[in-house]
Formats: sequence, structure tokens, C-alpha cells
Amino acid sequence: MAEKMIVFLLLVSLPFFFCPILALGGDRLMPVSVEARNSTDSRLETYIVHVRKPEHMLSAGREELESWHKSFLPSPPSDSGAPRLVYSYERALSGFAARLTPEEVADMEAKEGFLFAYPDEPLAAETTWRYGMGMIVGVIDSGINPDHVSFGDNLFPDPPERWKGRCDLNAPRKCNKKLIGVRNFDSEGPQAEALDVTGNIVNVSFNGLADGIAAGAAPGGHLSIYRASMASGLVAAIDEAIRDRVDVICLAMTLPTGEFHRNDIAIATLSAVESGIFVSCAAGNRGPHRGSVRNDAPWVLTVGAGTMDRALRVILHLGDGEKYEGESLHNATMIPTGSLRLAHPSSCSSPLKGVVGTAVLCRSQPAAISPARQAWHVMEAGGAAMILMNDHLNGSTIVLADTALPTVAITYRDGQQLVSYFESARGSATVELLPMGTTYQAAPTPTVASFSGRGPSSANGGILKPDIIVSGVNILGPALSSNTGFAFSSGTSASAAILTSIAAMMRKNHTEWSPAVIRSAIMTSSDYLDNEMNPIRDETGGAASAFTLGAGHVKPHMVNDPGLVYDIVPEDYLRYLCGLGYTQMQVEAVARRGVDCESLGSLLPEQLNYPSIAVTLRGGRTTVTRTVRNEGPEASFYRGQVVGMPADVVVEVNPSELNFREKGEYQSFTVTFFYGGGAGGNQVYEGNLIWSAATSIHTVRTPLVVTVA
Ligand SMILES: *[C@@H]1O[C@H](CO)[C@@H](O)[C@H](O)[C@H]1NC(C)=O
Ligand SMILES: *[C@@H]1O[C@H](CO)[C@@H](O)[C@H](O)[C@H]1NC(C)=O
Ligand SMILES: *[C@@H]1O[C@H](CO)[C@@H](O)[C@H](O)[C@H]1NC(C)=O
Ligand SMILES: *[C@@H]1O[C@H](CO)[C@@H](O)[C@H](O)[C@H]1NC(C)=O
Ligand SMILES: *[C@@H]1O[C@H](CO)[C@@H](O)[C@H](O)[C@H]1NC(C)=O
Repeated sequence: MAEKMIVFLLLVSLPFFFCPILALGGDRLMPVSVEARNSTDSRLETYIVHVRKPEHMLSAGREELESWHKSFLPSPPSDSGAPRLVYSYERALSGFAARLTPEEVADMEAKEGFLFAYPDEPLAAETTWRYGMGMIVGVIDSGINPDHVSFGDNLFPDPPERWKGRCDLNAPRKCNKKLIGVRNFDSEGPQAEALDVTGNIVNVSFNGLADGIAAGAAPGGHLSIYRASMASGLVAAIDEAIRDRVDVICLAMTLPTGEFHRNDIAIATLSAVESGIFVSCAAGNRGPHRGSVRNDAPWVLTVGAGTMDRALRVILHLGDGEKYEGESLHNATMIPTGSLRLAHPSSCSSPLKGVVGTAVLCRSQPAAISPARQAWHVMEAGGAAMILMNDHLNGSTIVLADTALPTVAITYRDGQQLVSYFESARGSATVELLPMGTTYQAAPTPTVASFSGRGPSSANGGILKPDIIVSGVNILGPALSSNTGFAFSSGTSASAAILTSIAAMMRKNHTEWSPAVIRSAIMTSSDYLDNEMNPIRDETGGAASAFTLGAGHVKPHMVNDPGLVYDIVPEDYLRYLCGLGYTQMQVEAVARRGVDCESLGSLLPEQLNYPSIAVTLRGGRTTVTRTVRNEGPEASFYRGQVVGMPADVVVEVNPSELNFREKGEYQSFTVTFFYGGGAGGNQVYEGNLIWSAATSIHTVRTPLVVTVA
């Protein structure tokens, strides 16, 4: 495997600064004049068409495939003659994207090899991320600025010889040894500015806060950037990334979750994983609602966001002597000093009165109005500062936003306290804002961010998702608008990028590890306790459920030496699809080749050799089998123990001891679940199976989630 890592970043829908190289999307994107446009043209829509490759096409080259794909298109086309084929896919999907009318799609159904077709979909960006301190390679969400200081390539090694990718930047901009490839699969969006990629070591700060050194986690990682805003372009980007032989893919975007044969991200990423590429995906920013997780396929790593222990602290000292801790992007020079009268209008979303010189207490109203806009209303009315209270959904997760007026953000719970103080003080409430600068060791840390996507997944048969969390809140990274500035942002795409870089390092250190093994090492070595040694909490202050936290918070320095690993061969993912009850045609579309469930065999979701175990009990017992491989010392002896599971659920592990004589040796065990409590009522019980080595330091933790129906 490769010595040098190529990290693949897939971006979305945002401005870019080079010209589109491929047209895609509906007719509005095509350079067709109004006169030339006739009734057919105006009804064209991009469809993704799945086809079954005949035997002789299985090893066909790109040109041959493309001409076969074209044979499905209407001929002669009844329109202005603009090209109909948008993308001809080679690996990531068996099929193509084309501009068609509904009637033309219907006509296609009769053609030999046609499976099904559906309209192209826009991707959602789980974004706002730049890059962070510590362990980060980098990710982009808004175009690139190769001139940014974080992007310099002095001291960078040459890309690997196998690299054949392209750099579609307009002169005088060029790729360099760090940024080795740029491709655009999106023709939308204005001309543009900025890049949010780094991997290099630079000094960073914002208003003098959070200063420090930001170092890429895989400083030797080369970046190749692909941009897309529609599903059709994303599949083309992954197709190209597989061809370019990247090592790791970071997916910062999502599609609505659903059956995998209708989800182009799921299909294309399975192809990448079959090629040995590790895929790290954002869990989405639709939390805290149940079932809000995206990118929930069992072949990818699904990454949620947590908080970190760095805070940009401002103490709020109330007139009654009470103190609360808030956070602000504004530094000591900017925040007004001395005691301020506290004002609390019913809303800060419209012009205000009577707040001159005050600190104005505002509710954050995420959907209705941005913090920047609220701060603007306060500033217009002569307010001295804004105190922004989280709503109950945001809870304790403080997402810092840049505002023109000094703003201090506080948790939902503290906000309630401030409101009741304001009400009891009857017009004489005051507050003093005391900036403390950048502080560390905030506790409890980490907590799961309110926006981080939550399970259970409705589409994957109950497999636990997300898999893992890592910092994704208030990450400092290169600003969009300048070559040297930095800005804060938050999102699960930031988290996915961090895991991408950890995976890239594992690819380098353990060239024989499959993507499933890398994921296993990440999950089983993670932390489920916070820095106060309590179970990691979510934004409500309560313990986070496994459907919120996944296995836990990644411990980067532990991933390299996991002791035991759970591997999964790619065929098992197809057996799993068969076990979900997919039809032959649906499995075929995801597999991109003929699959016969009868002869392949099927696997119930809980029996997939996943590094977490989630079962649903409907009376009786359920037994799952798992197989682990010894990656630790030759002679290793492990004892299994179930911890944290409430007594109502009985868990038996058999055998409860694993005795390995060799490195690379496999051993299997079963875990049997039985509900011994009263009426179930859709209750969820959680615990952990911990294998502890008697002969080494290794502990291998597998989360257990039992839903009693
Ligand atoms: C519009 O479509 C018709 C067929 O329906 C085609 O013959 C004609 O060339 C097209 N008109 C223009 C102006 O391109
Ligand atoms: C960071 O800043 C310090 C002090 O300004 C300087 O000594 C150091 O060389 C800088 N490091 C980098 C990597 O630029
Ligand atoms: C606060 O930030 C401003 C603008 O970035 C800067 O000029 C000033 O020096 C900073 N003050 C402190 C105390 O860091
Ligand atoms: C609050 O949460 C919502 C939903 O997760 C999010 O869109 C919004 O940005 C958050 N607002 C703040 C101030 O944290
Ligand atoms: C890679 O392996 C070496 C040797 O075992 C180890 O020292 C290093 O920490 C590993 N790298 C990472 C990122 O874990």
C-alpha cells in the first residue's frame, strides 16, 4: 500500500474560483438561448439511471462503457441537440446521469439492462467547517484559496507516483505538493474565493483568542479536492477518486436517509470501500431530534460532533452576586467594562427601544433570525452588548457566531437563571462582563453537540449510528475571505475530517488494515467517560445515549494499537442487504453487479461483524456472533465482562475468555440477550462488553444497545 497518503475531500455546493469543467443539472445550466429552447428542452431533468452490465461489459474501458450508456438515450434526440449524457460512471455506480423527459425515461424501461431511474437530488452541506487545532488534515466547504498561509507547501514531499489526478485551477493559481488535485463536478455557484484546507502548521488566532499552533494531523497527507452540489456530481467525483487511487475519503455532505438503492452516497461509498478506500462521513447537523442521523450505511464511518475543553470565557457577574460562565468571540478590548443595566425585550428580532447602553438579553432563535441580525438590532438601538441565550434544543452547546456588537453566549439553563433574576430585580438588574480570554479544561468535556445527528437509523436495520464523535464545535480555521485570517465554525463535517486524518495515519502505519478494521480500532479504543469520569453527556446535561454518542469520543493516540479488531469482508455488506429484504434488483443496484442472494446467503443486520451490537428483543432470546482478530502480542489472553447494562437485561458472553496464541489469529464468541424485566414498551437499555487483556494493556470495548419492543 501507499507510503504517502492521499486524502480526498468532497465538498459541496459552494462558490469556487475556477470555471466549471463539466455541465450538469437541469436545463437552466445549459448554454441554450431562449430562442433555441423548445418544449422538450424545457422539460429536461437530470436523471440517474441504473443499468445492469452484461457479461462483456464487466471489464469494459471507459469509452466502451460510455458508448453503451449512450445507447440507452433517445435517438435522435427531439430537442436542440445539447448533450444529454451528463456523466458515464465507471465504478461508483453502474449507470449514468442524463438529461431526459419523463416520457423518455419511461421508454428506456423497455431496454435490455435497464434497472431503474430517479431524478437527481441536491446534496446538503454539513458544513461551516474550516480546520481545527490538533489532529486535523482539513476539509473544505466553500471553495479554495490556495494562497492561504495554511496551505503553503514548503517542505512537502512529492505526491506518490501512482497519482494521476488533475488540477483544474485557472492560471496563475496552481496546485502544489500539498494540494495535489482539484476537480469540479458542479457548474453552479458564483466565482469565488476561499479554501478551507490545511494540513500545515501555522500560528492561528481570532481577535487574539484561541491562539496557538494548528498542526495538521497528517502533515504528510496530500489533498485532492473534488467539488459537487448534486448527487450526480458526487457519484462522478467518487468515481474519479477511486480511479485516482486516493486512500481516504472525507464526505462533508449528505442526502436524505432512506433505502440504500435510492441513496447515491451509499452506493458510491460502497464501491470506494470495496476498493479499500476508507470513507469518513458527517453524521449531519440535524440533531437533536431522534432519527436525524445521515450517512448511516454500515460500510462508512459516521461521525458526530462534540465539544472541546477550550472556552473563550466571559464571566457574567450579576447584580445579586451570582456568577455564570459564557463564551464570546470578542476580546477584552471589545467587551464593555463596568456594570451594565440588563434589558430583556420580548424579542430581539425587530427594532428595539429603551436599551441604550444596556446589556440586552436575547433568545437565540435559530430558524427565525441569525445571531448577527439580532446583534444588529441591539446595536441600532444603542445597546452596549448582547447576551445570547440558547434555546432548549441547543441546551448547553454554545455555537459561537461572529457579530458586529460584542456578544456573550450562554447555555439554556443559565439563560433561565438570568431571566428569573431579571424578572425578580424589577428593572434594577445589572451585569458585569468579565473577559477571561482563552481557558482550557472546561468540564464536563466532551459533550455531544446539540446539532449532531442522532440515531436510530430507520434504514440500516438498527445498526448503531453514529459510530463515533470528535470535536466539531467552535473550530478555528482559515477564513474564507482572506489569505491569512482565521474564523470559527462548527459542524459534523469538521468532525468527519478529523477522523479522515486519523484513518489516513492508520493506512500508513497498518497497510494491511481494511477500512472495517480501521473503523473497529477507532471505535473500540474510544472513550465513553468525560473529563470528570462520568458517562459523556449530551446538550441536555444527561448521559448521552449510544444513538447520540456512538461508541464514544475518539482517542487518537489509542487507535494505532487496538488489541483486537472486528473485520468485515465487502461481500458481507451484500449479504446484509439481502438480509434487510432488498430485492435482487435493489441489491444489484447497490452492488453494481449481478448478485444472487440465494447463493450468496443473507445476514441479519445484528449479525454483521460490526464493532457495536444493537439488537431488538421481541420476547425470547437473541444471540449474535462476533469474530475478532488478534492485533496485539502473540500470546494474548482476554476476559470478557459486560458493564453498565441494567439488570433487567441479561447478557451472556460465550466463551467469556479468549486465548490467542498468534498475532492475526481469529476467535469467535456469542452474545445472548434476554429481557427479564416487566412490560417492555420500547425501552432502550445500554451497556458495554469489555474484553480486557490479562497479558497486556489492551481493553476492547464494544457498545451494546438493546431495544425491548
Ligand atoms: C425543437 O424540437 C423539435 C422536435 O420536437 C426539433 O425538430 C427542433 O429542431 C427543435 N427546435 C429548435 C429551435 O431547436
Ligand atoms: C508562531 O509564532 C511564534 C511567535 O510569534 C514564532 O516564534 C513561531 O515561529 C511561529 N510558528 C510558526 C509555525 O509559524
Ligand atoms: C482584540 O482584537 C482586536 C481585533 O482583532 C485587536 O486589535 C486587539 O489587539 C485585541 N485585543 C486583545 C486584548 O487581544
Ligand atoms: C441551535 O440549534 C439549532 C439546531 O441544531 C442550530 O441550527 C442553531 O445554529 C443553534 N444555535 C445556536 C445559537 O447555537
Ligand atoms: C505509527 O506506528 C508507530 C510505531 O508503532 C507509532 O510510534 C506511531 O505512534 C504510530 N502513529 C500513530 C499516528 O499512531
